[in-house]
Amino acid sequence: MTKRKPLIAGNWKMNNTVSEAVVLAQEISNGYEKDWAELVDVCVCPPSVDLKAVRGVFLFDRTKVAVGAQNVYYEPKGAFTGEISVDMLSEIGCEYCIIGHSERRELFGETNEGVNLKAKALIAGRIKPIVCVGESLAVRDEGAYLDYVRVQVRAAFAGIEASEAAEAVVAYEPIWAIGTGRTATPEQAEEVCAAIRATLAELFGAEVAEGMRVLYGGSMNEGNAELLLAMPDIDGGLIGGASLKAGSFLTIVKAAL
Ligand code: PGA
Repeated sequence: MTKRKPLIAGNWKMNNTVSEAVVLAQEISNGYEKDWAELVDVCVCPPSVDLKAVRGVFLFDRTKVAVGAQNVYYEPKGAFTGEISVDMLSEIGCEYCIIGHSERRELFGETNEGVNLKAKALIAGRIKPIVCVGESLAVRDEGAYLDYVRVQVRAAFAGIEASEAAEAVVAYEPIWAIGTGRTATPEQAEEVCAAIRATLAELFGAEVAEGMRVLYGGSMNEGNAELLLAMPDIDGGLIGGASLKAGSFLTIVKAAL
């Protein structure tokens, strides 16, 4: 079986001005130990206006922390006021881009179809999408959450070939666990992450699916990361609140070693 390298990704959301972002990136860089790079991939996703400066900190220090964006638009260029293209992210050195985060789906009308177009554009531009999926509390309570998440995964990857999908990442983020302090139990998270991998296997074959990383996100923190990351189908975390302090973020990174 393929040994998957875990990925710990920090989603800073709409926090930190450029100067604040540089301070946090520098603290992360200072605490990061070089020999971790063999064992875990680390990425931070600041607001887009902070990306260049944050990338600059890690480049200058030769720290193996990647940067990712929190969103992208799928058209290559043109009259799309307020949007940012794959090429723009690429030139800054973005390695990852979060798409389909539940906050974007709920607050900004992002659809499964839009997520699919963004995934295709990112893959074409050699940026790894971190495709977020996850159910609301209402869907969980109805009991239909596995089907709900399977539909989101199938839609996000529609029309994408196995060879293109291999580098993509899926993040399972139950909406009821995001920013609420109510984490999914390791068993609850594993159940859905395993179902996501089974869906990826249906789409791309078992071998590709075994190599793809499936993350858990939703109130992951220093206290619960180790047990979540120990589950067989959880290959890392997408961390919101706990990624805004270098100490707690790096403790979660260490839990993935
Ligand atoms: P949280 O956010 O860790 O603050 O719950 C996770 C996310 O939304 O990516």
